[in-house]
Amino acid sequence: MKSSPPLSNGLALLITAGAAATFFILLMMLPDHHTNRTSSPSLSGESKGSGESPAALFASRCSQCHALPALMHRSPEEWRILVLKMNRYMNQTGHLSMTEDQAREVTRYIVENQK
Ligand code: HEC
Repeated sequence: MKSSPPLSNGLALLITAGAAATFFILLMMLPDHHTNRTSSPSLSGESKGSGESPAALFASRCSQCHALPALMHRSPEEWRILVLKMNRYMNQTGHLSMTEDQAREVTRYIVENQK
């Protein structure tokens, strides 16, 4: 068996380094780096998301893992617990999540619009 020519090793290394650099640059360009959400929920500076309507929050947050859920009837308390659980899932899996206030707004939106 012949060993592969040295050039291909060098090339492979270059490509790997290039890919790593590209990935790193893309990462740096991501707009919202999950900042600490427990502190200062009312500061207006928080990337985007503070100005979203409850309907928009529901549509964007609740369709990340499954189809937007049908709003079948549940008690407000059941929805509150469910939304909190879903929000915890979002945090655990690195999805876009909600502040406490946003979770409360989405819960109210669901309760008001359920069938
Ligand atoms: C991070 C992923 C993720 C996101 C985002 C998410 N869900 Fe879910 N959802 C799940 C998983 C996983 C299940 C099934 C396991 C469970 O019920 O705990 C589920 C189940 C459900 C169910 C069925 C539960 C039941 O008991 O019948 C409803 C309703 C639901 N989600 C609503 C929502 C709403 C409303 C939002 C937005 C606030 C949301 N989901 C966002 C992961 C997610």
